Amino acid sequence: MGFLDTIAAKRDGGENSKEQLIELAKGAADKSIPDYQLGAWLMAVYLNGLNPRETADLTLAMADSGERLDLSGIPGPHLDKHSTGGVGDKTTLVVLPILAACGVTMVKMSGRGLGITGGTIDKLESIPGFRTDLTPEEMIDQAKRIGIALSGQTPRLAPADGALYALRDVTGTVASIPLITASILSKKIAGGAETVVLDVKCGSGAFMKTLPEAEALARSLVDTGKLCGLKVSAVITDMDQPLGMAVGNAIEVIEALMVLESKNIQSARLNLTDPLSRFQYLCVELAGHALEVLGLGDRATAKEALKSGRAHEKAIEWFCAQGVDQETIDLDLILVRKEGWNTAKGAIPVMHTGDWGFLKSIDAERVGQAVIKLGGGRTEKGQSIDHRVGVSVISAVGHRVTHNCPVFTVLGVDQKLCKEVASDLQDAFVVTNEPVEPVNPVLKIVH
Ligand code: URA
Repeated sequence: MGFLDTIAAKRDGGENSKEQLIELAKGAADKSIPDYQLGAWLMAVYLNGLNPRETADLTLAMADSGERLDLSGIPGPHLDKHSTGGVGDKTTLVVLPILAACGVTMVKMSGRGLGITGGTIDKLESIPGFRTDLTPEEMIDQAKRIGIALSGQTPRLAPADGALYALRDVTGTVASIPLITASILSKKIAGGAETVVLDVKCGSGAFMKTLPEAEALARSLVDTGKLCGLKVSAVITDMDQPLGMAVGNAIEVIEALMVLESKNIQSARLNLTDPLSRFQYLCVELAGHALEVLGLGDRATAKEALKSGRAHEKAIEWFCAQGVDQETIDLDLILVRKEGWNTAKGAIPVMHTGDWGFLKSIDAERVGQAVIKLGGGRTEKGQSIDHRVGVSVISAVGHRVTHNCPVFTVLGVDQKLCKEVASDLQDAFVVTNEPVEPVNPVLKIVH
């Protein structure tokens, strides 16, 4: 009966054995199991779930469906930081240089944006010359030299995930916690990570809309990771409002550079109603948490790496190693700035038209949709995007606003489209006359 038994067991609420899950991952990777059978199994899992043992066995089977990177020749500790994705989430661009400046080695595969959540690869491709197609050999060599290598996904690592993810996309089975868990962790294991710090986003701009949902995903990731032999912990972070002031590819790189260049971090008072300060705070929290997990320091260590300029130097070293021209790097980054923020020939401010009050909410999902409409994101895989466009968020929840003050700026190249998007966003923020508590971006840590 072969794979039919695997489907039937899951359909009837039974368990799949380790051997069955290995056969499944192999068959997905080499295409020997037809899509209609894999689709049926995915739906059975979506409806009946996988227990922790099955989730771990599936994760390892998917990790072993291709090559595994061998990081044993690279000085450790080896860490991977992963975000489940959100609107304006550019933390990787800041957290990786901080950690590399503190002696951590990271070999990381990242994805492109799809839907409202952006992708690190798209953001980095805003930098002229930045290569996102490193081979596994190039990644290892670069990580050895500078501590960071980041590339797009290669079909050589965890190919079963590529095949299963494409099918999940078209069978309504993406939102399954065990399938998400196996998908994320199989790629980390194939990439050679020993320690994984997960940023599980929670809110309107994320996969997981509520705290109980985010907790369930974080718990599954942490428990499965441990069963697979990883050291893993998860930070659940707020995505009910956009993260930081930039949503859009080039402008997110600029914002990350602004944080990396910041020298006043020790003295600046934390202001959670200021989007840039909130983003900077989250980067330090995530990096500090990773350093704690590795026993290499804490938040103060992460802050010091920023304040001393070491994280900024590391970022420039990283960009140069991945193809950005050393001679012209400043010029290139200025170009990013010009092409990004200043492309705003058609910059349209979205004003608060009511009386003064306090920002109660900013709908992150609608801001993400606005960026897609401007051409900065995709609704289908493979679509080309415009790196220059985006939405700049001026205030965070809790900020006091007055009549006619700008709340967003829409940045684009087509005036008519910008005006349309500005009008779409007019009621994406809610103002109340009662004071509103600012929201700490760190909601919970799951070990
Ligand atoms: N990210 C992944 O890599 N896989 C999923 O299934 C969901 C998010």
